[in-house]
Amino acid sequence: MTSPRKAFVVGHPIAHSRSPLIHGHWLSAHGLPGSYERIDVGPEAFPAFLAGLREAGFVGGNVTIPHKEAAYRLVDIRTPRAERIGAVNTLSLDEAGRLVGDNTDATGFVAHLDATLGADWLDTTGIAAGRPALLLGAGGAARAIAVGLLDRGVPRLLIANRTAARAEALRALDPHRIGTLAAAEVPGRLAEVGLLVNTTSLGMAAAPGLPADPAPLPPEAAVADIVYVPLDTPLLAAARARDLRTVDGLGMLLHQAVPGFARWFGVTPQVTPALRALIVADIEG
Ligand code: ATR
Repeated sequence: MTSPRKAFVVGHPIAHSRSPLIHGHWLSAHGLPGSYERIDVGPEAFPAFLAGLREAGFVGGNVTIPHKEAAYRLVDIRTPRAERIGAVNTLSLDEAGRLVGDNTDATGFVAHLDATLGADWLDTTGIAAGRPALLLGAGGAARAIAVGLLDRGVPRLLIANRTAARAEALRALDPHRIGTLAAAEVPGRLAEVGLLVNTTSLGMAAAPGLPADPAPLPPEAAVADIVYVPLDTPLLAAARARDLRTVDGLGMLLHQAVPGFARWFGVTPQVTPALRALIVADIEG
């Protein structure tokens, strides 16, 4: 008899990670005997933690703040998408015992856009007809989302960031399709934008505020936020008040978890209303 499969999420701090709730829900929904635990490991101990995974009986796990870039450097093999994003959020051990690093943030973000706006959102937002998508922020999350949007076929992507040099650095992903804006130029350019995405921390409970006023956006535009505490961010509320379509930050968290679960436990899980409700109750409780 084979023993139940074990997976984890590792980070520092890790107490507030919702990943154990997500994977625990799927394990019981599918009647699977595996486990998924949260593990707090600081930066100094992280390399040894990775080296000991096989010995500890894990099949894989998730990596979160502050270890995504270290995991990228330390794995034996990277998937092409992890390679482009420069960070790893999903680990698995292959048959030969090699540690494989993947990044599911880009596809998680896009899967949630598709689910919320409908698969034809490139057309309905005006992006297919030439409106650019505009990313606010240029950190690790912005990089993953830029890769996701480019791979989904967005022809023009603008990036604006408080620190202009970081936005410039992201341009290297695809200098033909990506342009940069100075933060001060954003309000004057919104009238042409089809999709506005906030990847900054502005709007979080600890940093309340609007990363940009969505009022000038055209009526067909959609507004996405990756902040999910609170779930209804000031940006999303302002967009809704203008009757613009909105995409919340929780869906990316739920959808990025799908490929890892499928790899570790052998069943592709669904992002259902019941799962959403469970996590929303946790956020609001
Ligand atoms: P993550 O990996 O989650 O993207 P990060 O790399 O720390 O986190 O990036 C946070 C993003 O939020 C950055 O784009 C940051 O802008 P800077 O590059 O100028 O630091 C942005 N950000 C954070 N606080 C901000 C604020 N008060 N105003 C504007 N942008 C802010």
